[in-house]
Amino acid sequence: MERVTIVFATGNVDKMREIRSILGDVDAEILSMKEAEILADIAEDGASFEENAMIKAKAVAGLLHRTDAIVLADDSGLEIDYLNGEPGIYSARYLGEHTSYEVKNAELLKRLLGVPEEKRTARFVCAAAAVLPSGETFVKRGTIEGYIGEKPAGAHGFGYDPIFYLKESRCSTAELTEEQKNAISHRGKALRAVKEELFKRDKGV
Ligand code: IMP
Repeated sequence: MERVTIVFATGNVDKMREIRSILGDVDAEILSMKEAEILADIAEDGASFEENAMIKAKAVAGLLHRTDAIVLADDSGLEIDYLNGEPGIYSARYLGEHTSYEVKNAELLKRLLGVPEEKRTARFVCAAAAVLPSGETFVKRGTIEGYIGEKPAGAHGFGYDPIFYLKESRCSTAELTEEQKNAISHRGKALRAVKEELFKRDKGV
């Protein structure tokens, strides 16, 4: 069987690095949108992580110049319970897409000022969608539970990692190595579930 190609529908280089590592054991060529020569600004106007992931995967599948590739896309974000699930599906756009995460994280910490630890619960959510060459589709969800710390910590990861803390270790996900984070993260869980589903359907990966 020929080696499968997977096109991952994201323009986010930090996410792409994690994705390559999580899918590292898959016998497939993994291309970013850029590497697949797809330039598209896809409107993520779904009402859930799952809907947005599927919108991205289907849009990229429709733009591909080939019909033999598996297209994957993820949509992810941070849900803070005290803020009624904000920033949620708007995580990338929170306070504006081009606002730095230093500013976004500082604002979230400010909104939680004085809130006790037991009320600072939060989770990262990732929905990973697949569009197969046959046209079949499926979505898998992964989550990681934690809480919003009192100050940013750590220099690894990206986005909201410096303020997202794990209960057991009391460290932020930005203090983990990439390998440690991928082993427990929302994205790691969702993509491993996608891998399992592809194996089950015998898609040659
Ligand atoms: P997406 O590209 O629409 O999925 O945007 C996801 C956004 O959620 C990112 O830009 C980050 O703000 C946030 N996010 C998702 N996953 C993570 C993570 O693993 N660490 C930190 N922030 C994350």
